[in-house]
Amino acid sequence: MAAWCADNLRDLAGWEASNLSLSCSSNEAARLLDGSIRQIVSWRDCDLLDGISKTFERLKEAEPDAALASALLLNMEAFGTGTSVEINPEFRKLVERNEALARSPSINARERLHLMAASLWARGYLPEAQDTWEEILAEYPNDLIAVKFAHDSYFFSGNAQGKRDSVARVLPHWRKDEPCRSYLHGMLAFGLEECGQYEEAERNALVALSLRREDCWATHARAHVMEMQGRSSESREFLEGTVQDWEPGWMLACHNHWHNALNYIEEGQYEVPLQLFDNEIGRRARRSEGCLDIVDAASILWRLELEGVDVGKRWSDLPDLSRHIHDHFLSFNDAHYVFALQRAGKDKDAHELVRSLQGFVRSGPSNNSRRVAEEVGQSLCEGMLAYCEGDYAKAVSCIMPVRAGIHRIAGSHAQNDVFTQTLVHACLKTGETEHKEFARTVLLERAQKKAHTGIAERLAKKLAESQL
Ligand SMILES: [Fe+2]
Repeated sequence: MAAWCADNLRDLAGWEASNLSLSCSSNEAARLLDGSIRQIVSWRDCDLLDGISKTFERLKEAEPDAALASALLLNMEAFGTGTSVEINPEFRKLVERNEALARSPSINARERLHLMAASLWARGYLPEAQDTWEEILAEYPNDLIAVKFAHDSYFFSGNAQGKRDSVARVLPHWRKDEPCRSYLHGMLAFGLEECGQYEEAERNALVALSLRREDCWATHARAHVMEMQGRSSESREFLEGTVQDWEPGWMLACHNHWHNALNYIEEGQYEVPLQLFDNEIGRRARRSEGCLDIVDAASILWRLELEGVDVGKRWSDLPDLSRHIHDHFLSFNDAHYVFALQRAGKDKDAHELVRSLQGFVRSGPSNNSRRVAEEVGQSLCEGMLAYCEGDYAKAVSCIMPVRAGIHRIAGSHAQNDVFTQTLVHACLKTGETEHKEFARTVLLERAQKKAHTGIAERLAKKLAESQL
């Protein structure tokens, strides 16, 4: 990454001068904290800091009990979405350590709020975590750690307005010369896009990219705008023409390749998405074993199958998901895992995941993860499994009633379209007249958000043929 990331990292006096005082005593820890959040916000390793893993190691060594460092590291663990305090003792210990630090009399009020927010997020209480970050931002709008993780957690709770407004509120308080200010435009762009304000979203993405062309989050936000507006060929040219800028962007690079695969599927071209799966998306998911990479990989294969494409043995190329059967941190993950497991021939595991989710709904903690699972996720997962097993009527009866709440499971409109498409296919496959009406309804709803392009046309054609 460009040298700016390691330039002028704030020491204790620097943080104090930014009205963001730290209670730790190590200037090295203060500087590494700055270096960490800069890399996190830009989604890429800074060579001068030896990358994020080394930066984290050094941060922990520099002052193991530094409050904001602990909060930030827990935020990053929770961001992975691949575990929970209910099933992972190590993760629980990390959360409890944060909670103990939050009770320390030697930290300041802002740090205490950060530690509380991180613990709330890690325990699956996302709206409560967001309220806590917003409390920080009301007084400290230039607190980038709060800006960044509030933004991410709004994404994981399907709160598009929160994603937009949280950044919109603080942006006017940022000086033009603050090192990460441009990234706020990329975040705002994504929030605007998810709220359907496509022109303003693209304008902000372009502002961000004009300031830092390597901003892969702004690239991603612009790809979303193009996806929703049906500008697939323009999006292909944009993503493929800037690939060198965004490809170092950690898991977002995998996700941007996923977006590009969607462009081709939209156009009814299936060879390139298969190549993108083989060379990028599936390969990266296997290497990272990260949940966000895995759901993207599963999503592409499923979408191709919905289009009638034979994906061969690629389901078996996905990482082993059996260790995630009991996570239930995000219903979004569960709803992808269930079909990925079934398609990989692990029917028992797919059923076990659904049974485990039903148990989580019955007796899990009273957090956001459980609420969403109870109201949307369980039914969605049962519907996806029913579809996998050819019980299309059950798939319709499970997914149709919860479709308006699917955004709550996390994921973007583009990501959750996989469930909308599945629902329409299920409606068409039962042959029931009532279900054909459902298909028409869902396609009309889909058209309110997304331009009428290739996939919509093919689905509408199938519907028309089913009525002949
Ligand atoms: Fe996306």
